[in-house]
Amino acid sequence: MALILQKQMHNIITILLFTLIIQAQSHEFSKQLSPNSLGLKKQKLTHLHFYYHDIRSTTPDIVQVAEAAMTNTSKTGFGSVSVLDGPLTVGPERTSKIVGRAQGMVASADLNDFGFLFVINYIFTDDKYNGSTLSVLGRNQVLLPVRELPIVGGTGIFRFARGYMLTNTQFFNVSTGDGAFEYNVYVFHY
Ligand SMILES: *[C@@H]1O[C@H](CO)[C@@H](O)[C@H](O)[C@H]1NC(C)=O
Ligand SMILES: *[C@@H]1O[C@H](CO)[C@@H](O)[C@H](O)[C@H]1NC(C)=O
Ligand SMILES: *[C@@H]1O[C@H](CO)[C@@H](O)[C@H](O)[C@H]1NC(C)=O
Repeated sequence: MALILQKQMHNIITILLFTLIIQAQSHEFSKQLSPNSLGLKKQKLTHLHFYYHDIRSTTPDIVQVAEAAMTNTSKTGFGSVSVLDGPLTVGPERTSKIVGRAQGMVASADLNDFGFLFVINYIFTDDKYNGSTLSVLGRNQVLLPVRELPIVGGTGIFRFARGYMLTNTQFFNVSTGDGAFEYNVYVFHY
């Protein structure tokens, strides 16, 4: 009896050792890192201020790409989807200095109110922000005086970004669909 137990223990130990060797040889899937190893030191809070321009008339930077059969009869244009690539400027005039672009998708996603789904990347081109992006995923209730959209992430200078954007309408031409919108952005990043 004792001999059988001893043999079994021996087998178990052999299997365990073998498993350990295999694990040591396999590729590593995850490991803990210190924030310093990625150069992440102190978290910063940055405020950005810019204007975004929608142009549907002359040379469009926003185009409708999809709609549903019910979109035309819906009071909110429910189901329409537009894709945009519009300039971000330092001043409210379309001709003022460009500091980036907004690229993404806007969908009418509310049957009763003007509530739009925004899935947009803000790509900055100015100075130290050149090439860095912020990603926004949220609801824009366009008829409110001030709307709040969450920042869900970012790249470059904005790695690990989180924060929010406040936006209001500077002007909107109902007949052309052209508009300009002010943005105040508050973002945590490293
Ligand atoms: C909606 O109305 C527009 C403009 O009148 C028309 O071009 C389009 O075909 C209509 N869409 C549907 C799905 O009925
Ligand atoms: C931004 O980066 C791009 C690509 O690296 C470069 O071509 C461009 O000149 C830069 N713009 C500014 C304003 O630094
Ligand atoms: C809207 O655009 C049309 C066409 O360009 C123009 O005639 C009209 O004056 C504009 N309305 C406002 C309020 O700017």
